[in-house]
Amino acid sequence: MPSGVSIDVNTILAVVAVLLFLALLGYFAFLIRHQEEVEPSTEKPAYGIELLEQHYAPSATVEQPTPYYVAPIPASPDPLEISSNLDRKIVLGGGLLFALFALIGVYFVIQPAVRADAAQTQLRANIEYGKELFAQYCYDCHGRDGKGGTTPDGRTLPGLPLNKPDFKYANIKNDPTKVADTVTLITNTITRGRPFPAPRYSMPAWGTSDGGPLSSWQVMELRDLIMYGTDQDWADIVTIRQQKGQPIAEQIPKPPAAPNNGQDIAQTVCTKCHTFTTGQKSPNPLAPNLSAYGKDGPFNAQLKALKASGDPNWLVKWVTNPPSVKPGTAMPPYGPPGGQLTADQVNLVVQYVLTLGK
Ligand code: HEC
Ligand code: HEC
Repeated sequence: MPSGVSIDVNTILAVVAVLLFLALLGYFAFLIRHQEEVEPSTEKPAYGIELLEQHYAPSATVEQPTPYYVAPIPASPDPLEISSNLDRKIVLGGGLLFALFALIGVYFVIQPAVRADAAQTQLRANIEYGKELFAQYCYDCHGRDGKGGTTPDGRTLPGLPLNKPDFKYANIKNDPTKVADTVTLITNTITRGRPFPAPRYSMPAWGTSDGGPLSSWQVMELRDLIMYGTDQDWADIVTIRQQKGQPIAEQIPKPPAAPNNGQDIAQTVCTKCHTFTTGQKSPNPLAPNLSAYGKDGPFNAQLKALKASGDPNWLVKWVTNPPSVKPGTAMPPYGPPGGQLTADQVNLVVQYVLTLGK
């Protein structure tokens, strides 16, 4: 449905309802006036409000109308005719009232459709903005069509595929859990990013909550593009780049330089759990303070035994894979395979740690 329709239907409904209401008011004004004309209340003592009034005082003798067959032609409208008109008036009033009810009913019946139409319009708008944002912020890492992989000229893109079947609402809508998980994954990853130690690329954090440039609304627009964008939407993104005068070829950023000294690695990776400051408590209470480790280490029995066995790589082995030295330890592996550091980085951080306190 085109966007104009919803507004028109609402407006028509509102106008008809107001007109009906005014007609109803006018109609009752007319009834009161008419009643007053045919039966002025000044003629008889009246108790109570007009329309409901009682024309005779309680227990007063009530004049009976003269039977009409002997009645003279009345000067005022025939009382019987008044009462027959009253029937029609009541029917008309009732009709107006029910028309109003019917209108309210129609309103409730068509509202879901009107609202769905509005949601559809909103979604379209979000996707359009999402395309603009993607062209500006995501294109260079996730690729012109959002499919990741390699560029047409064969360079490897750092970002993962976003324009993929698993993320499309149409493919997962029958599985509400999957829909919810996908929404969360996409929203959280865009907002908070996904950091990896250099030289691996990180997904930057884009949400303003995490120091990025995008509002939560803009993150939602990107999410709507990813989950609801059509092939045409993704194809449009190249055109948007063109119109903005930005290069069509992905400008893949340089990979972040690997920290090439042990202290940097220690400060960026190990301080998640350990402290290197004398007298301070570690963020993770299980992780010892390493500020004097070169002098005081090793600490645990297994590592002491390994060092005592004369193995010169005792600490490299520990940092690479602590559970291989002490099964069940709470420190996870940091070296290859699986750990986030390269073998070189492990060597650098180990050399650094062994100087501490000396
Ligand atoms: C500097 C390059 C870079 C930029 C720019 C970038 N990303 Fe990423 N993106 C990545 C990397 C790297 C990953 C994670 C790769 C991994 O987990 O191995 C990623 C992952 C993601 C994921 C998670 C995908 C999944 O399957 O788990 C989403 C969603 C995403 N990016 C969206 C975006 C959006 C939206 C933008 C633009 C606002 C954007 N990215 C900009 C590099 C980038
Ligand atoms: C996720 C938390 C965590 C991170 C991150 C972490 N460690 Fe640990 N580390 C521990 C825990 C817990 C222990 C205590 C292990 C035990 O004795 O069972 C420990 C112990 C150690 C020890 C002392 C071993 C001994 O008993 O002599 C050294 C040395 C060490 N870690 C070095 C590092 C280095 C270097 C890094 C950074 C590459 C690092 N750790 C990152 C949790 C962590």
